[in-house]
Amino acid sequence: MSTPAAQIRLATIADANAIARMSRDTIETGLGWSWRPPRVLVSLRDPNTLSNVIGDNRVQGFCITQFGDEIAHLSLLAVDARLRRRGLGRKLVSWMLVCARTAGIATVHVEMRTTNLAARAFYRSLGFEDAGVVAGYYRGVESALRMVLSLRARDYPEVIWEPPLAWRRPTDS
Ligand SMILES: CC(C)(COP(=O)(O)OP(=O)(O)OC[C@H]1O[C@@H](n2cnc3c(N)ncnc32)[C@H](O)[C@@H]1OP(=O)(O)O)[C@@H](O)C(=O)NCCC(=O)NCCS
Repeated sequence: MSTPAAQIRLATIADANAIARMSRDTIETGLGWSWRPPRVLVSLRDPNTLSNVIGDNRVQGFCITQFGDEIAHLSLLAVDARLRRRGLGRKLVSWMLVCARTAGIATVHVEMRTTNLAARAFYRSLGFEDAGVVAGYYRGVESALRMVLSLRARDYPEVIWEPPLAWRRPTDS
């Protein structure tokens, strides 16, 4: 297959079947098929989810990301196996990251199977850092590695809540 002059575009509902098939064949292998066309369609129609694809008529790769106020969650990413290591994955994620920065997102989170060394190397190359293993993340049968990319400092950092002095018992230190 020749290298495409790849253009990134927003996914349309016409891409749902192709995205679902790629998810089944390249991401969910051995785990069942949860991202079937109806579930993909829900994402495509969700105003808080960004779904971008590469390829004109045929989907060569796609990226689906849910946006919260400060955190974005990259739910699904895949590139056609015949087109890997040509920069398509980087293009897809970089495009999403421009949107995330514009939207004021502070951190982007993603999970992958702990055995998925290619994905780990890929996300590392984009600046993502390991953020821990989530046991049983994939239907209780496989663990995930979580990786996080920080785009800016969080407005609402995690704070350790402490009771006001007046509430403390004399024995509390
Ligand atoms: C992960 C994935 C999306 C990467 O897509 P890609 O188009 O091949 O990635 P790129 O060509 O943009 O690679 C960018 C960089 O990532 C790193 N990288 C990508 N694949 C790699 C691999 N198999 N091994 C080591 N490093 C890798 C390299 O640093 C690469 O730069 P280089 O080619 O100049 O060395 C693709 O391998 C894929 O679809 N995998 C199956 C689905 C999946 O695992 N999705 C992620 C979990 S949801």
